[in-house]
Amino acid sequence: MKLSAAVPSMLTGFILCSLRAVALQDLRHPPNRIAVVGAGIGGTSAAYFLRQKFGKHVQIDVFEKGDVGGRLSTIEMEGNHYEAGGAVIHPLNLHMKTFVKELGLNTRSPSGNLVAIYNGDEFVFQESEWFLVNVIKMLWNYGLNFLRMYMWVEDILDKFMRIYRYQTFDYSFSSTEFLLHAMGGNDFITKVNRTIDEAMQKSGFSQRFIDEIVVPAMRVNYGQGAEVNGFVGAVSLAGTSSGLWAVEGGNKLVCSGLLYASKAQLIQGTVTSVQEKVRPSKSGSTVRLYEVNYETSRGPILDMYDIVVIATPLGKEIGNIKFLGFDQPIDTFSKPYHQTVATFVHGRLNTSFFGCPKPCQSYLSEILTTDKPNLFINSIGLVSPVKPVTESEISKASDIKVWKVFSPEPLTDERLRLLFELYHAVIVKKWLAYPKYSPPEKLPPVVLHRGIYYVNSIEWAASAMEMSAISAKNVALLSYHRWYGKDGQIDQEDIAERLKSEL
Ligand SMILES: Cc1cc2nc3c(=O)[nH]c(=O)nc-3n(C[C@H](O)[C@H](O)[C@H](O)COP(=O)(O)OP(=O)(O)OC[C@H]3O[C@@H](n4cnc5c(N)ncnc54)[C@H](O)[C@@H]3O)c2cc1C
Ligand SMILES: *[C@@H]1O[C@H](CO)[C@@H](O)[C@H](O)[C@H]1NC(C)=O
Ligand SMILES: *[C@@H]1O[C@H](CO)[C@@H](O)[C@H](O)[C@H]1NC(C)=O
Repeated sequence: MKLSAAVPSMLTGFILCSLRAVALQDLRHPPNRIAVVGAGIGGTSAAYFLRQKFGKHVQIDVFEKGDVGGRLSTIEMEGNHYEAGGAVIHPLNLHMKTFVKELGLNTRSPSGNLVAIYNGDEFVFQESEWFLVNVIKMLWNYGLNFLRMYMWVEDILDKFMRIYRYQTFDYSFSSTEFLLHAMGGNDFITKVNRTIDEAMQKSGFSQRFIDEIVVPAMRVNYGQGAEVNGFVGAVSLAGTSSGLWAVEGGNKLVCSGLLYASKAQLIQGTVTSVQEKVRPSKSGSTVRLYEVNYETSRGPILDMYDIVVIATPLGKEIGNIKFLGFDQPIDTFSKPYHQTVATFVHGRLNTSFFGCPKPCQSYLSEILTTDKPNLFINSIGLVSPVKPVTESEISKASDIKVWKVFSPEPLTDERLRLLFELYHAVIVKKWLAYPKYSPPEKLPPVVLHRGIYYVNSIEWAASAMEMSAISAKNVALLSYHRWYGKDGQIDQEDIAERLKSEL
């Protein structure tokens, strides 16, 4: 054979080979089955985004041991329903906004209560109906701190919004740190690793402002004080802005809607363990699969999956899922969650308790509290039902209204009698509500194993509906890119600049 003939054939061989490599990558078979553990907003939005990415043929099973919605849940009191868990949504929470639109749901604006801040003896701050009065009070008491706070939060929100651009262009991150860094660089990483107290002091806020305004906002939103990390603190402060909204009929309708739209199968059961198994494949080689074990009313069952998405906190008191048979033990560094008790009371407030004896001149509708050791409540506020109430029903209601009290411990009868002059109905909902924040801390991993992902890692930066949805979309994208070996779509930061010019 002449050399000149051999060269082209070698060349074609080489070309064929590399073509085959490309084809193999592109033709990697799609996953057959994906398991999602948890049907809260994290799990249901994960199912929704996984369906978008992986297409219509993959089977998606969503496991839920309780009710669809998880920490989005309503209670019923005298014929009306009220939000008992996650209640309000920020106007710039774009995933939540899109879900509501795509699912054909309606929004409502929760009652615009006037805020009063109680320090255990007296009100240190009281909002007025009059804008100008508020401005004067804010300036008088706190100088420019309020204005600076709006600017501080605005700056953080600005950076936060970058995540939507990454996600629109299909970029994903393999850890919560990378995701945070892509949004806000080292500034966000530092925020997670120091307390809101330190973060705001470093930015020049007065201690009085932090104690009297910032801490009450932390207490009502996260049941904790100035020791929460600066990032969740900023999320919490963003929750004091105007334009907050909720879903008519209850926020949990987003979860059931997403579950339906994802065409996933809902399996009522408690997942107890995930194990790695090696199975022979059709072609004679082997495949590695995950065996998901779960308890149902019909006893224990197991099923095999290619990908497993964990969308619940993994602590012993909550998810309690064991990872068995892995070469490297799976470390989820499960840490404690903070207990918050929501107590709904249909009754009349005892304004004397708050230092305003009868007849109390102030109109009290939302009372936040400072960090005072002997105070047994975090907040108390009037709530409106998730469905609008007709005029005739309102007139029937008189001055006896439904209040929601947040406290770290259940309220005893004695304490209820202190808070209320009279009451006829009480409903208590106890939550392991959000992480017990104590920065600096390591965030749990997002990739627990080759094909196991952890949506709730993000809660340790900040726990909120939108955070779960952002993490769910990230996990859907990440699992897709890892499955098909598209490394160029993972942990790419510098694209921020490129995307800017593309838009
Ligand atoms: C009182 C309160 C007030 C809040 N207020 C707000 C607010 O105003 N705005 C806001 O944005 N956020 C708020 N949040 C936070 C928000 O509710 C949560 O961040 C969000 O709902 C978390 O959703 P998730 O899907 O990640 O987790 P979850 O909703 O906890 O979902 C996890 C699901 O997994 C299920 N599960 C657990 N283990 C297993 C298992 N082994 N097998 C099968 N199923 C399992 C659980 O039953 C649960 O349904 C609040 C939370 C609380 C508690
Ligand atoms: C109201 O609060 C005051 C002050 O704490 C308390 O003395 C009183 O017993 C409470 N209850 C009623 C019904 O007034
Ligand atoms: C935050 O602090 C923890 C604990 O000190 C440390 O392990 C982690 O690396 C820090 N994270 C960053 C991003 O600085």
